Amino acid sequence: MYDPFSPAFQADPYPAYRRLRDEDPVHRHDDPPFWALSRFEDVWAAVRDPAAFSSAQGLTFYPDEIGRLGLAPTIVMLDPPRHTALRRLVSHGFTPRRVAALEDRLRAFVRDRIAAMERREADGEQADLHRDFSSPIPTYALAHLLGVPEPDRARFAPWVSALTTLQDDGFTAASLNEAGAADAVAEMFGYFTDVIAARRADPGDDLISALTAAEADGEKLTDWDVLGFCFVMVAGGNDTTGNLISHAVALLDEHPAERERLLADPALITGALVEFLRLEGSVQALARTTTRPVTLHDVEIPAGQKVMMLYGSANRDEREFGPDADRLDVTRAIPRHLGFATGVHFCIGSHLAKLQARVALEELLSRHPNIGVDRTRAVRIHSPFTRGWRSLPATNL
Ligand code: HEM
Repeated sequence: MYDPFSPAFQADPYPAYRRLRDEDPVHRHDDPPFWALSRFEDVWAAVRDPAAFSSAQGLTFYPDEIGRLGLAPTIVMLDPPRHTALRRLVSHGFTPRRVAALEDRLRAFVRDRIAAMERREADGEQADLHRDFSSPIPTYALAHLLGVPEPDRARFAPWVSALTTLQDDGFTAASLNEAGAADAVAEMFGYFTDVIAARRADPGDDLISALTAAEADGEKLTDWDVLGFCFVMVAGGNDTTGNLISHAVALLDEHPAERERLLADPALITGALVEFLRLEGSVQALARTTTRPVTLHDVEIPAGQKVMMLYGSANRDEREFGPDADRLDVTRAIPRHLGFATGVHFCIGSHLAKLQARVALEELLSRHPNIGVDRTRAVRIHSPFTRGWRSLPATNL
C-alpha cells in the first residue's frame, strides 16, 4: 500500500494515496515511525496550526535531522514567533518587484537553452528536456538574484547539484558524505560568508545586499540569517522549479487536447501552472512534529511524533477538487491548493517559481508546440519527499 521508499510507489504514488485517503486517513507507519495525513482538509488544517504541528524538529521523518546536517535551523525549520520576525525581515529584501525585474534576462536565458537543445539535436544527439532546459533555469535565476558574478557561476552549479542530491536522498547521514556533498555545502557556505561580508561593506543592487540592509522594528538580519536564507533558497528553489517545468511538458504530452487549449490561448499558461503543480507536485510530503496529543478521525497522535503532510495526496483529494480530481484541466478554478504549502511557511519563492515556469513554457511552446518526452528512457529522482526527474529525453523538437 503506502511505502514511501518503494520504487513502485515513487513511480506512481497516486493509487496508494487514494487508499490512504479513503481507508486510513491518519496512517501509522512503523519503520521509521511516523504518521501520515492524506486528506486535503486535514493537511490544510495541520499545516496552518504550527502551535500543534511544529517545524522545529526538521521536515523529514528522520530523528535529529537538523543535528545530522550540522546546520543551525533555517527559516523553514523555525516556529513562530522567531519565524514571524525572520520572515518579515526577509520579505523586505525578497520583494515581488525584485523577482519581476528578472523577466527579460530570464527570457533571454531560456531562449539560449532552447537553442542549445536544438544544436544537440542537429548534432544527432537527443536533447534532454530536464538536464538541458528545465534544470539550468532556476540555477541561473538564483545565481543572478544572489548576485553571483559571471565567472563564479561555474562553481555555483556543482553546489546546487550537491544540495539537490542531498534532498533526493532524503537528508540521510550517508548521503551527506556521498559525492562530497558535505564538502560542497561547506564550500558554498564559505563562499557566501565572504559575499555577505563584501556586500555589507559595499552594497550593490542584489538580493544579498538587500537582505543585509533589511530592517524591521529595529531588528536586522545577522550574517547567519542571510546565509541560512541563501541555503534554503538554493536547496528549496532549484529542483522544485525545474521539476515543475518538466512535469508541465510531460503532462501536456499526455493530454493533447489540453495542449491545444494552451496553444490557442497562451494567456492560460499562468493559471495552468497551478494545475500542473496540483497534479504533479515537486514537494510531495514534508513532516511536522506534534507538540501535544492531537486527535483526528478518532485516532490519537501522541505528542512528539513526526507527522507527514502528504501534499501530493491532498492536492488530488476528490473531497476538495471533485470527482475528476485526477484529470488535467488547464482552466480548472483552484481557490486553494497545497503545491506551495499554506500558512506561515507558504513558499516565499512562489512568485519566482511561477515567473520561471511561465517564461519557460511560453518560449518553449511558441517555438516547439509539439515537444514531448520519452518516458521509456526517463529517469526519476528517488525520494519520499520530492517528485521529479534526473533525466527526461525530449521528443518532437
Ligand atoms: C515549483 C517550485 C517550488 C515549490 C513546489 C516549492 C514548495 C515549497 C513548499 C511546499 C514550502 C513549505 C515547506 C513546508 O511545508 O515546511 C516552501 C517553502 C519555502 N520555499 Fe519554496 N517552492 C518552490 C520554489 C521556491 C523558490 C524558487 C524559492 C526561492 C526563493 C523558494 C524558497 C522557499 C523558502 C525560503 C521557503 C520557506 C518559507 C518559510 O519557512 O517561511 N521556493 N516551498
